[in-house]
Amino acid sequence: GRALATVSSYKPDIQSRTPPYPKLLKRLHEVRRILGSSRQLTLAEKILYSHLDNPEESLLSNTDNGLNIRGNANLKLKPDRVAMQDASAQMALLQFMTCNLPSTAVPASIHCDHMIVGQRGADVDLPESIKGNKEVFDFLESAAKKYGIEFWPPGAGIIHQTVLENYAAPGLMMLGTDSHTPNAGGLGAIAIGVGGADAVDALVDAPWELKAPKVLGVRLEGQLSGWASPKDVILRLAGVLTVRGGTGYIIEYFGPGVDTLSSTGMATICNMGAEVGATTSLFPFSTRHIPYLESTHRSSIALQAQTIASTTSLNNLLRADEGAQYDELITINLSDLEPHVNGPNTPDLSTPLSLFSEAVKSNQWPETVSAGLIGSCTNSSYQDMTRAEDLVKQASAAGLKPAIDFFVTPGSEQIRATLERDSTLSTFEEAGGVVLANACGPCIGQWKRTDGVSKGDSNAIFTSYNRNFRGRNDGNPETMNFLASPELVTAMSYSGSTSFNPMTDSITTPTGQEFRFSPPTGAELPISGFEQGNPTLLPTFAAPSPSTPVAVDPASDRLALLEPFAPFPKHDLKGLRVLYKVTGKCTTDTISAAGPWLKYKGHLPNISANTLIGATNAATGEVNVAYDVDGSTCGIPELAQRWKDQGLEWLVVAEDNYGEGSAREHAALQPRYLGGRVILAKSFARIHETNLKKQGVVPLTFAVGADYAKIDACDEVSTVGLYDMLQAGGKGAVQLVVKKHGTGEEVIIKTKHTLSEDQCGFVLAGSALNLLAKMKRS
Ligand code: F3S
Repeated sequence: GRALATVSSYKPDIQSRTPPYPKLLKRLHEVRRILGSSRQLTLAEKILYSHLDNPEESLLSNTDNGLNIRGNANLKLKPDRVAMQDASAQMALLQFMTCNLPSTAVPASIHCDHMIVGQRGADVDLPESIKGNKEVFDFLESAAKKYGIEFWPPGAGIIHQTVLENYAAPGLMMLGTDSHTPNAGGLGAIAIGVGGADAVDALVDAPWELKAPKVLGVRLEGQLSGWASPKDVILRLAGVLTVRGGTGYIIEYFGPGVDTLSSTGMATICNMGAEVGATTSLFPFSTRHIPYLESTHRSSIALQAQTIASTTSLNNLLRADEGAQYDELITINLSDLEPHVNGPNTPDLSTPLSLFSEAVKSNQWPETVSAGLIGSCTNSSYQDMTRAEDLVKQASAAGLKPAIDFFVTPGSEQIRATLERDSTLSTFEEAGGVVLANACGPCIGQWKRTDGVSKGDSNAIFTSYNRNFRGRNDGNPETMNFLASPELVTAMSYSGSTSFNPMTDSITTPTGQEFRFSPPTGAELPISGFEQGNPTLLPTFAAPSPSTPVAVDPASDRLALLEPFAPFPKHDLKGLRVLYKVTGKCTTDTISAAGPWLKYKGHLPNISANTLIGATNAATGEVNVAYDVDGSTCGIPELAQRWKDQGLEWLVVAEDNYGEGSAREHAALQPRYLGGRVILAKSFARIHETNLKKQGVVPLTFAVGADYAKIDACDEVSTVGLYDMLQAGGKGAVQLVVKKHGTGEEVIIKTKHTLSEDQCGFVLAGSALNLLAKMKRS
């Protein structure tokens, strides 16, 4: 067992956790002056625009003098805080280090959660995972100490739960290097998931750019009851919006139903907004936020937020203006809401519970459930866990045990210790449940199954998590993951049958009785407050300690310091060669695969050996088979490396939506590292296009899409007008002169680009970081 402290002497640095309200209110005032005081603003706009570096410049850019801001304006934002998880923090910090600054410009935190296995329970899994990832954790801890970042060690909790308990606050703007960062919107923060290079913008005090999102209003009416839970709000919404429906939008909740939800329930809803592609999600200040903030050491923030939120003047930063217009509007009546089950394999395939057994039959989904997993960053609040506990107690009293493996992942040490004190965990364990470490574990594939289900076996699992892409949990593409509330997952674990509906069906007990669950009940917050748990898992609040050496072993295969990329030559590019012509989809996964490669996230040379290994060759249809000029073949990364060694720079030719998927910056860093200068595509996914520019790679699109047919692997390419265009801040045309491999014939290809003046600066300096470092030096 672990040492437990029952003392609640924990005194966080409250000042660094309080949003800068006076400054934000001043900005809001300025925004009103620029837009006119009669302009009604949504909550999302108020918080975002109050974080503009220069409101006048941003709000009037690309807009019709301040009209049509949403969807058009280029916002340059100054976030208040940054949070990073262990896997993505590595590259973020390695990039930050190249700027040679003594400390981070805004408060930041690191959370060790993604690299911890869930298998046999926390006591065994945690020490093993720490041992296996020691050099990475040591690196993160030493960098945290050096730069004054709060470091939450392995076992302290999952980033989003820890952020909710400590940093999220009404009106805050935060960037997080994880896609479920919007979880903090449950407490009224604007929290956006980004890649490491974006986080570095905030860490060095450079404005972070975002195309002003549109705002999707979701009006909540009525009140949840019975089996329906906050999770069902977002499961239902995902079905309506689909996985792309939120793209370019912030989802803003409002209406009379808001105050009927708990703070943690609101966080669950915001968390899964990531599944519909939304930039972020948020709730307005609610009286339900007050007890949560108070019970997590933040009474002073609750007080300030309440004062701001109750003003009827134009200074109300924490609620939308009366009559604010949404770009889209959806209404959900909580009183009518049924529990939902989403999946398999996609989070937007949403089925109401009453129709689920039919869906199982008609789709021929497995009839049995093979495991139930509750908790994770999405659903491990006190309310979630005590509602699940209630069901377990009901079943235990009837003499029942879970029919299948039942796992519980607490989201943080605070939650775990509190549930331990209140005997919730022992209730789960006595019933046969396994309590895993306070970490991501099975949610991110760190689940070594011991239940006899092996790779290739078709089976169904129920989880209270947020994602259910194929293979995500156990690496088995034949595992169907159905997402549901923790209550429903718990009930399904007792039945073991996918067509069980706990609202209407009963289970036969060992003594032959028919047992039916009563609707779950639980407590929103613990009556005797939260426990802090193991004190060694609390972060340290040391000031930056510049003399701390950052722990990177030169012999390491998992971590390598970054060398700054060379600046752009002072002339156009000559003698580039086409490394590969891709056909079809080319996602960030195609460009930088995950799975076993995650291990090398902090080692650019090593992870670069996966570059484009999922890409299909347009000439041959082969995947990851590249042809050198002499006709010999090898893998794409091998050819890139060979050309790099020969001093040859290259480009990739691709089709539509190149780089769709995620903000994964490795997909831009790796080609750059291996000598990629240009990506020529029919079109780009916006975030990846920006990432390429930040790393100094030039994204060009075909002016005429059909020209894709005119260029092939091994052709030699020179740019015309590229250097002048970069010098002119994005103005001027760029052409490519293509000398065909074999025939030597010359073809001209006209291109387009979207480089802004700032982005031209990135490319010229070699990367955005080079430019930042230069600016900080001067
Ligand atoms: Fe971790 Fe899964 Fe959440 S990976 S951060 S528990 S989505």
